[in-house]
Amino acid sequence: MVAAFDYCLHGKEGAAPSIDTAMHGLVGAAHVDHLHPDSGIAIATAVDGEALTKKIFGDTVVWVPWRRPGFQLGLDIAAMKDANPQAIGCILGGHGITAWGDSSADCEGNSLHIIEAAAAYIAGHSRPEPFGPVLDGYAALPDQERRAKAAALAPTLRAIASHDKPMVGHYTDAEAVLDFLAHAEHPRLAKLGTSCPDHFLRTKVKPLVLDLPATASVEDAIARLTELHSAYRAEYQAYYDRNATPDSPAIRGADPLIILVPGVGMFSYGKDKQTARVAGEFYVNAINVMRGAEGLSTYAPIDESEKFRIEYWALEEAKLQRMPKPKPLATRIALVTGAASGIGKAIATRLAAEGACVVVADLDPDKAAAAAAEIGGTDVAVGLAADVTDEAAVRAAVDTTVLTFGGLDLVVNNAGLSLSKPLLETTVADWDLQHNVMAKGSFIVSKAAARVLIEQKLGGDIVYISSKNSIFAGPSNIAYSAAKADQAHQVRLLAAELGEHGVRVNGINPDGVVRGSGIFAGGWGAKRAAVYGVPEEELGAHYAKRTLLKREVLPEHVANAVFALCSADLSHTTGLHIPVDAGVTAAFLR
Ligand SMILES: NC(=O)c1ccc[n+]([C@@H]2O[C@H](COP(=O)([O-])OP(=O)(O)OC[C@H]3O[C@@H](n4cnc5c(N)ncnc54)[C@H](O)[C@@H]3O)[C@@H](O)[C@H]2O)c1
Ligand SMILES: [Zn+2]
Repeated sequence: MVAAFDYCLHGKEGAAPSIDTAMHGLVGAAHVDHLHPDSGIAIATAVDGEALTKKIFGDTVVWVPWRRPGFQLGLDIAAMKDANPQAIGCILGGHGITAWGDSSADCEGNSLHIIEAAAAYIAGHSRPEPFGPVLDGYAALPDQERRAKAAALAPTLRAIASHDKPMVGHYTDAEAVLDFLAHAEHPRLAKLGTSCPDHFLRTKVKPLVLDLPATASVEDAIARLTELHSAYRAEYQAYYDRNATPDSPAIRGADPLIILVPGVGMFSYGKDKQTARVAGEFYVNAINVMRGAEGLSTYAPIDESEKFRIEYWALEEAKLQRMPKPKPLATRIALVTGAASGIGKAIATRLAAEGACVVVADLDPDKAAAAAAEIGGTDVAVGLAADVTDEAAVRAAVDTTVLTFGGLDLVVNNAGLSLSKPLLETTVADWDLQHNVMAKGSFIVSKAAARVLIEQKLGGDIVYISSKNSIFAGPSNIAYSAAKADQAHQVRLLAAELGEHGVRVNGINPDGVVRGSGIFAGGWGAKRAAVYGVPEEELGAHYAKRTLLKREVLPEHVANAVFALCSADLSHTTGLHIPVDAGVTAAFLR
């Protein structure tokens, strides 16, 4: 079957066929829909699901006892359909629903009928508190407090989820999650695990549940989570050992993919943001399933050994093996300041192209959002407003980053501006502005980011976009160049301080990046052109002529250097500045 499935690919490297392909092929109807709706799975996982199916549907929908998806399940349903010509579909025990019809519209109508009739029955017959009585101290925290606690816990939770391999995260405080965690039966139900194969392939069979009330301090929560993580890993290893056979694929990692924190919400994890988000969405489905099943009867998911056989099934393994090789920056989460324009935007674009999730931070929220949207959808890039001179705004940006993507790995201090004036014309305000944005701003960003990097225990990168002017001394540049020299020394200071945490701190010294740069477009370019006596549009070419390589430097060239610094190839380099200036002897580093 594993080999035969290759014939069902939509072209070379096409979407992998569903493990339920056999059911679609073998059931004797022109159209067969197989779905995992909450109401349908609620009936399918109720301990008396067969009786409930009869009660709700009479003989129009038939009960098919649990069987692993695949060839035999297809044959079972086909035989059942032949024996029950009046049936429009079936409830698949422990799993979901299947419906059929002569046309696509008929089939869809039959599916919707099953879903809606099951939902209506649950709504009309459920007991009032399916998850048991309210638990004292487990109610949702107020909005602000909930978000703050989520952000404070996120780095530790990502460390937990990433013990075996680094993960991207997704946070939700959906009503369904908070309500589940606020009621007494949640520990018992969470332990029983999800039932639908589609769900637990994404969520793992069981979540990790923090067993402390919402009011527990962050410190207590972290201490307890660390204990629970060890227990979770041991339990998962034991589950693997109990069920694995000599031909089972190797264990795929023992960390949880879903972590539930009472009063705060749910963190879900995956190899990228989409996978993490969908895992979370599926766990919300699982909660809805448990609510429906418990409301009518008792939730009774499939056996552990059956779950294991699916989780480590050869067909599933083959699907995983077919996945394309991850991109170099896959699972890495980047925050780039001043990324709505010029060099910063080129950096954000390149990091995303290499697989990173990117937060575009800049002064103007609309420009930041527009730049992010150009880079990709919200699973790839998001924009936000953050003035790097404002410590509270930077902390909020880091919080948003960890709540959006689960953590932070890669910070680029790029925000900047340039005012070229001789000493006697440089005002204190000019000095302060440039030092605030570049020297102080980088310090504030690095500090806020380092807290996360240290707690996550996954190392990380901080990159400063300094300048040739951090070492080159020329006239009319006192405030800008001094601020750049300050940034350049921050690179060395932080490389020295953060090395023990695996955090590498490096810098780039660009020069003469005219095209795409807001700095040059905003008057600086016109002034420099006037100084050199060339038309402004030829300034880039003019700079190129002064270089050793006679090449014009573009924002993309700076972005290339950032990628090189953050890639695995430079894993043993910290405290370095790379010139990206096409060769300027006066700015050689020595
Ligand atoms: N263009 C060059 O030749 C050159 C050379 C060396 C170094 N650099 C440095 O590269 C960086 C990017 O410059 P660019 O040429 O792309 O300029 P740019 O003007 O195109 O981009 C700078 C961005 O920083 C943002 N910014 C300014 N103040 C901010 C603040 N307080 N908080 C958040 N964002 C803020 C701006 O809104 C802008 O989007 C700067 O640090 C600059 O000093 C540029
Ligand atoms: Zn299915």
